[in-house]
Amino acid sequence: RLNRDEGDGAWCPKEATDSQYLQVDLGRLTFLTVVGTQGRYAHSSGNEFVRAYRLNFSRDGLQWRNWRNRQGNTVLEGNTNVFHQVLNDLHPPLITRYVRVLPVPGLSSTVCMRLELYGCPWEDGLVSYSAPEGQIMMPPGFPIASLNDSTYDGTRQKRRLSGGLGQLTDGVTGQDDFLSSRQYQVWPGYDYVGWRNDSLGTFKHVELEFTFDRPRNFTYMKVHSNNMFSRGVKIFSSVSCWFKPHLHSSFRAERVEFRTVLDDRNPSARYVTVPLGHAASVVRCSFSFADVWMMFSEISFHSGKVLKPHAVNASSSPAPENGRSAILIGCLVSIILLLLVVIVFILLCQRVLQSPGASFIKLAAHKMRPKLCLACTLLSPSALLLGNPLYDLLLLSSCQLTSGWLRGKSSQVCGGGYAEPDVTQCTPHQSFQSSAPHYAETDIVSLQGVTGSNMYAVPALTVDSLTRKDISAAEFPRHRLLFREKLGEGQFGEVHLCEAEGLADFLGEGPRADSRSVLVAVKQLRADATSQARNDFLKEIKIMSRLNDPNIIRLLCVCVTSDPLCMVTEYMENGDLNMFLSQREVESTLTHANNIPSVSLSELLHMSVQIASGMKYLASLNFVHRDLATRNCLLDRRLTIKISDFGMSRNLYSSDYYRIQGRAVLPIRWMAWESILLGKFTTASDVWAFGVTLWEMFTLCKEQPYSLLSDEQVIENTGEHFRNQGRQIFLYVPSLCPPSLFELMMRCWSRNIQDRPTFEGLHQALKPHADP
Ligand code: ADE
Repeated sequence: RLNRDEGDGAWCPKEATDSQYLQVDLGRLTFLTVVGTQGRYAHSSGNEFVRAYRLNFSRDGLQWRNWRNRQGNTVLEGNTNVFHQVLNDLHPPLITRYVRVLPVPGLSSTVCMRLELYGCPWEDGLVSYSAPEGQIMMPPGFPIASLNDSTYDGTRQKRRLSGGLGQLTDGVTGQDDFLSSRQYQVWPGYDYVGWRNDSLGTFKHVELEFTFDRPRNFTYMKVHSNNMFSRGVKIFSSVSCWFKPHLHSSFRAERVEFRTVLDDRNPSARYVTVPLGHAASVVRCSFSFADVWMMFSEISFHSGKVLKPHAVNASSSPAPENGRSAILIGCLVSIILLLLVVIVFILLCQRVLQSPGASFIKLAAHKMRPKLCLACTLLSPSALLLGNPLYDLLLLSSCQLTSGWLRGKSSQVCGGGYAEPDVTQCTPHQSFQSSAPHYAETDIVSLQGVTGSNMYAVPALTVDSLTRKDISAAEFPRHRLLFREKLGEGQFGEVHLCEAEGLADFLGEGPRADSRSVLVAVKQLRADATSQARNDFLKEIKIMSRLNDPNIIRLLCVCVTSDPLCMVTEYMENGDLNMFLSQREVESTLTHANNIPSVSLSELLHMSVQIASGMKYLASLNFVHRDLATRNCLLDRRLTIKISDFGMSRNLYSSDYYRIQGRAVLPIRWMAWESILLGKFTTASDVWAFGVTLWEMFTLCKEQPYSLLSDEQVIENTGEHFRNQGRQIFLYVPSLCPPSLFELMMRCWSRNIQDRPTFEGLHQALKPHADP
């Protein structure tokens, strides 16, 4: 796995030449959309990585082809260091079963790589189509439109394409205006394959033939067609399809005919659905022109399993009585077996759901072509989180994949046979790597959401065994805590304002025998809390007791030798930042004149610097917060900010969290795309949340982030961030926000982790704003 550092793991070819490759068998045809690579870090003993690589692929394991991007280049940029993973979106995506990764020979002779592949099962099962070559259109007064199938990966002979897949299956539908292309800085007409009616002989139709991986029961075919009638383009007027049951049989005479309703009013490109209702391995369709031009950008198929006819034993006909009881017994046995299968299945499902690796992302077992989820990559967030059966989780495959969501499901060919990395060629380790683990290593221990205790995600190494001796906070005599007021409550317990008698003396911070009371906040675990919540509470204590920074809430002492478990922290007189700001207006003569509680721009900036500083400290320890937001920042009477983490321990903010099918609770509006889609929480995803926190501050917490979007739409928008095709929605510029600050926020929401600023950088950038 990327961003894990188990073992020395990486694939290191003996030498980077074209004959050395890493081959992965995905086990089935897959719509592959992203390739992730990372170098060999190996607890800082590795320094090898691959700067560039090529991909070869094969659908049948026999015929191999090069992957090319839309501009025809075969080389993908790899890594520039051993730490960062690099995700490459494949444009066009690959439909394949086998993939080979070939490092491009470079300056360094020793290269190593870790690899992850992302995609969805290719449910269409289409392995190739053949079609007449697309043509060139020369519209008067407009640029030439080339309507060829430019990503076709089969052969071209006698103006016919055969044996491959291309633009008709790349998941990209064309625009209404065929001259403008979606995004790829390519030529006009790029998204369409188009034919002119007088170019195909006397027959005014275009014949396409589709070959599938196995016999399928087709329900329908969808053809995405242009309809810009003002330029002589229309959808087809009719289509006839023939069916071949097996690859080597002949076409059946019976055919399906379908007439479309032509539309001279609406020039929008559209999907035309053609009912098929036949079983076949090969489908041939003949599309008739309705105008001078016909242009398609996508064709997809929906099919089910072909049911085998029951074998009928005609020779033996048992006596009716015997036959009936035999049938009865048969039925009973089948029912019992079926029940057993269901019980085993339910038990298995429960186990999977309860295992930490099951994460909050549920597999939606199903169907439908991945291209509908637009590049579909990784997972379709909305689909998976919302249980939409249209999508399926990719078959993740990775040579580092030892555990993961689909443990045991992906088939690997990458076992055995690796060349050992040549460690003699490694350079000495950089100093910062030696003690603290790289942040990528601080992968969260469990993929649960925010539960109300267990706040900071911790490096995996630190949480496995927890004993009293791990807790460095002192045990305070419980009877010296005098409860004064309830500050908040949540699912797992309550927070109280207490007087702690003689605490200063107890902590060795005041004069000896100082019996004065100090105000403290006491977080107390509910007596009936589950053992999981109890463990999390203890973990949180352990983590907090290690933190020491002016902008992080300080754990003063604990009461853990008896129940209920308590942690005692400094009391912050001004409560949380969300409440504080939402009750204020921006400072002006009006607020002064009318005594309206206010906050100035410079105070806001000063607060931002403090949060950046606290986060810089956390990041320096490789602690990942996972829930940075104004609700988790506390203010004392001098407006010093201290970052805390309440999670769901206060019902007040429960609407900021999204519950996934009763399991995880996630602050989705603050979460980076990779946290929602991949369950990856890192310092870089904390940076994303910091951007949202800044946005909250400069809107004075008057509005929830993306308030116009439902939770489901927020998750859908996450998919758009991932796909990065310009359709993602960003938070707007708050009216109080200086442009340079908004630029900084936008950088926090960069799609690529490497493009996001660090907390160090954010702190540096914000400081001059705060003290001009
Ligand atoms: N609410 C929860 N914890 C608090 C704290 N430490 N100070 C003030 N209010 C709080």
